Amino acid sequence: MSVEQIEAVIERPKKIEHGHLAWPLFPLAKILRRPPPALAAQFAQLIQDRIAAGDPNCQKLGLAQAVAVGGFLNLTIRDEAFQDRLIQAVRASLRHDPQASTLGNSDVGKGRRLVIDYSSPNVAKPMHVGHLRATVIGQAIRNLAQSQGYEVIGLNHLGDWGVQFGKLAWAYRQWGHEYDFEGKAFPSLFAIYVRFHEEAEKRPELEALGSAEFKKLEDGDPELQAIWKRFVQISLAEYQKVWDLLGVQHDLVRGESFYNDRLQAVESMLEQKKLLVLSDGAYVVPLGDEMPPCLIRKSDGASLYATRDLASAIYRREELKADLNLYVVGFEQSLHFKQVFKVLQLCGYDWVEGCHHVAFGLYRFKEGVKMSTRKGQVIFLEEVLRQAIERTREIIQTKNPNLTEEERARVAEEVGVGAVIFNDLLFDRSKNVEFDWDRILSFEGDSGPYVQYMHVRCASLIKKFEAAGLRPNLEQVSVLSSPEERELIRQLMSFDEVLESSFAGFRPNVLAQYLLEVCAAFSRFYHEHRILDEAEPIRGSRMALVECTRVILARGLRLLSIRPPQVM
Ligand code: ARG
Repeated sequence: MSVEQIEAVIERPKKIEHGHLAWPLFPLAKILRRPPPALAAQFAQLIQDRIAAGDPNCQKLGLAQAVAVGGFLNLTIRDEAFQDRLIQAVRASLRHDPQASTLGNSDVGKGRRLVIDYSSPNVAKPMHVGHLRATVIGQAIRNLAQSQGYEVIGLNHLGDWGVQFGKLAWAYRQWGHEYDFEGKAFPSLFAIYVRFHEEAEKRPELEALGSAEFKKLEDGDPELQAIWKRFVQISLAEYQKVWDLLGVQHDLVRGESFYNDRLQAVESMLEQKKLLVLSDGAYVVPLGDEMPPCLIRKSDGASLYATRDLASAIYRREELKADLNLYVVGFEQSLHFKQVFKVLQLCGYDWVEGCHHVAFGLYRFKEGVKMSTRKGQVIFLEEVLRQAIERTREIIQTKNPNLTEEERARVAEEVGVGAVIFNDLLFDRSKNVEFDWDRILSFEGDSGPYVQYMHVRCASLIKKFEAAGLRPNLEQVSVLSSPEERELIRQLMSFDEVLESSFAGFRPNVLAQYLLEVCAAFSRFYHEHRILDEAEPIRGSRMALVECTRVILARGLRLLSIRPPQVM
């Protein structure tokens, strides 16, 4: 077994009493044809002897003890050495910059490029809660990827093409003057969109008029092009408000229209590879019994969502040089991505291995939750965020009446928006998320406000400490060895690993859950030990632990695109 193979199986025991590391010896015992417990006992004895003999390697590692427990070899590191590593890492990252924005970073992705397609709304339609998931999961994965050393390109695959733009242009020319496109551009745009569809139900001939307009748009009619561009601009400006609230940044907008002049090449390539088949006047790529054929061109000549995604995948690989290409899109599009990836595979593109549909479940609204919806079932994202901010403002008003108006506004935004993001990221993304205001905004439960509150607690302890002219001492920390301190240190020390595994599975919930565990460990520590009125050197050392907790909570929250407040 290689060192890497051994490293890969080493675990972190659930309880600190079982040591800092556990090595399951089953795979090795199998190779050596020996009973795992006997092997574990032999190794434990060997290491214990070396520790006793003052072996320099054991000293360097700070090994304190090796014990066999069944087929596991459990290793304990000296508290001092373990604690020292944490403090040094935090100190180094703070020296580098006050936000500790490199803490927990690794270079597993170094030299590799990751393209991530997320949020990607559809022009003229407001982002709805479904886009919330595509947006916040995407942004968190993007941040995590950067922490792992990937060069990241965040891409907005804006839905900006299709026959609906012909309809919309027709509607705009017909009724545009009745609406305030100057003052209320986006609501007007959405209004004519809705009106067209209502109207078309009564007058089916409108469909054909819309299609004809779209044909002209596709053929490059300058006036229609200008109208369409305006729709795109109006929509992007509207989405930007939501992205700003959520702390989202894309690097590139590559809407569906971007691929218009690349579709022919895709078709020719498919034809050349003899994958394209004419079926009822439409061009398709048959995909066997496993799934329905992938539609490439409709019988009326129109291209499709899938055609654009094929062109886009090829673009991301060949021009953006993506090693990994992620699509953060709901489960309802699983078949679509399966088909697209399958076609790419049939084309012989082995890089399709690096393409992943990062799928997620739906929102489920708790019964009785009132959400104002303007039209049918759609729940607008911006409205949800505004409501979260408003509700938070009320909670803060009662909890902390001393805040200034300005502070209250800022905190309400940080906490309200953070609460919605955290609720989204806390659970396995493949599951549906329950939307329940009470739980989302609870300051005590497993919620964003709870984590933010713990951060505030750490920050205000430090502030109090500093008010007395003192600083957390990250230089000479005395050994902290109570069970609560050891547990908190152990939790904080797993930060790197949490980031790595959170990214590896594209699972921000691993980080979100971890932050709750850190909070719980901090809370037990805080409950059991005095800090500010303790004597030196214990006081300074405990403050160092508070500072480490604060830094890790802040960094962890930021990676989830949640702001760590100073007060709340
Ligand atoms: N615009 C689509 C929607 O809102 C999502 C696009 C996802 N990305 C892609 N490459 N298909 O449903």
